[in-house]
Amino acid sequence: MDAEGGHGDVCHDLRSVPEPSLPSGLALRPVCRVPEDVRDGVPLTDAVAAAGRAAPAGEVSTAALVTYLRSLPEGPRLFAAVDDDGMVRGTSGSRTFCSEAFVFFVNTDPGWRRRGVGLSMTAAALRSAAESGATRASLDASGPGIPLYRRLGFTAVAQMTQFSRSG
Ligand SMILES: CC(C)(COP(=O)(O)OP(=O)(O)OC[C@H]1O[C@@H](n2cnc3c(N)ncnc32)[C@H](O)[C@@H]1OP(=O)(O)O)[C@@H](O)C(=O)NCCC(=O)NCCS
Repeated sequence: MDAEGGHGDVCHDLRSVPEPSLPSGLALRPVCRVPEDVRDGVPLTDAVAAAGRAAPAGEVSTAALVTYLRSLPEGPRLFAAVDDDGMVRGTSGSRTFCSEAFVFFVNTDPGWRRRGVGLSMTAAALRSAAESGATRASLDASGPGIPLYRRLGFTAVAQMTQFSRSG
């Protein structure tokens, strides 16, 4: 059994979240999670496949994650950063419960890292949550994500240990 550390982080004020500003060559698009979602959205399978390339989860298959995300009750909004060839290079998502939002699915293609994609995609998810009425957001931060969440006003509220078990 392996264990890895992370943070539970909270942002108490979504009003100061900047507008997403993706690098040249990427466009922000909504992801079509279920058929009722926006017609011109990026297919969920493309976004999940890109997330899998960015952060190979090992134990969770693309098909299982697609099924899970489709099964969530109404509400989660997913976003993709798409390049000129239509390839997904970054993802993010948020889910809102009353005034609380949860941010997840933040991933950047390894070839596009350190250009502000992760920050912009997280900002897009937060602004969407704020539009849905959220005033506060939380997320589970991995090590590489921690600095960018700090820049967006998140503070750590708990240490987390993630376990994985095979067999
Ligand atoms: C975490 C992750 C999403 C960050 O994505 P990213 O697109 O590289 O994020 P950003 O570019 O916004 O920020 C990353 C770094 O690049 C720097 N950066 C941003 N724009 C830059 C630019 N134009 N030039 C140079 N550096 C830049 C940022 O300052 C930041 O530096 P720091 O970490 O030393 O503070 C990405 O590493 C990833 O997908 N990791 C695997 C999955 C994962 O852990 N997801 C997070 C789950 S909580």
